[in-house]
Amino acid sequence: MADVADDKNPAVEAVELSYSYQRPLVEALRAVNLTLPRGTFTAVMGPNGSGKSTFLRLLLGILRPTTGEIRVFGESPTAPSQRVQRLIAYVPQYDSINPLLPLRSREVIALGLSSRVTDRPARWIDERVSQILEDLGLVEIRDRQYGLLSGGQKQRVLLARALVLEPELLVLDEPFSAMDMTSQHATAKLLSGLVRQKRRTVITVVHGIHTIVHHLDYLVLLNKEIVAAGTPDAVLRPVNLTRAYGTDVPVVICPEGFRHPLVEDVHA
Ligand SMILES: Nc1ncnc2c1ncn2[C@@H]1O[C@H](COP(=O)(O)OP(=O)(O)O)[C@@H](O)[C@H]1O
Ligand SMILES: [Mg+2]
Repeated sequence: MADVADDKNPAVEAVELSYSYQRPLVEALRAVNLTLPRGTFTAVMGPNGSGKSTFLRLLLGILRPTTGEIRVFGESPTAPSQRVQRLIAYVPQYDSINPLLPLRSREVIALGLSSRVTDRPARWIDERVSQILEDLGLVEIRDRQYGLLSGGQKQRVLLARALVLEPELLVLDEPFSAMDMTSQHATAKLLSGLVRQKRRTVITVVHGIHTIVHHLDYLVLLNKEIVAAGTPDAVLRPVNLTRAYGTDVPVVICPEGFRHPLVEDVHA
């Protein structure tokens, strides 16, 4: 087992990581070097097509690097042992799940758990699912058909499906895009709590950053290459944003002193 109790290995380490799709030939990531320690909260942002989802696919072991390396808790995510896979949970964008699946919300959540945890009775799984539904305020929609939920409700069910696995590393691809403001803030707090109280590691791709910027340890600004990586305050500078987005991005400073780039308004 990758020894996660052992702090020797960072949660994620990319070394000269590059990826090109072959058909059609598209260079998606170039020479990415990045180390994310355990117990940290990181967001990845960048314009459309900047390689954010490709980075997540490499992290999840769905793609193999063209050159360079990526390691998760010290192991390659494509290693045949699949040990790292059991430490990771992934929250896809809600529209990557077939809406025609005739499943209730609670079944969507239970399926992920029962496929990973095979040595527990069904009752144990039911209890865990009920608990997570309660934690996320989803009790009301537990028996509703997943495909008929609103976008924001689907995103929260997918989050529940990942959280119920109690992953060491939680990977999310634009989890807030369809949520209302209340859910966005509740989710940001919940993710931050996982990191601060349970020392889990969270990496999320985001389009808008306002809801989570107050909670982040690191921000990675991507445009095929890493344009800037570090604390949000260091990264969210006009020079970096202009390099990433190819246009001036206004930055406002909120009353608590955090920088907020008005990115959505620039390239929506
Ligand atoms: N399956 C694929 N085949 C070919 N090119 C792809 C494929 N998936 C993504 N791309 C291209 O790779 C680049 C990075 O895509 P992606 O990682 O999805 O960007 P982002 O998530 O930042 O919007 C884009 O130019 C995109 O068009
Ligand atoms: Mg994407």
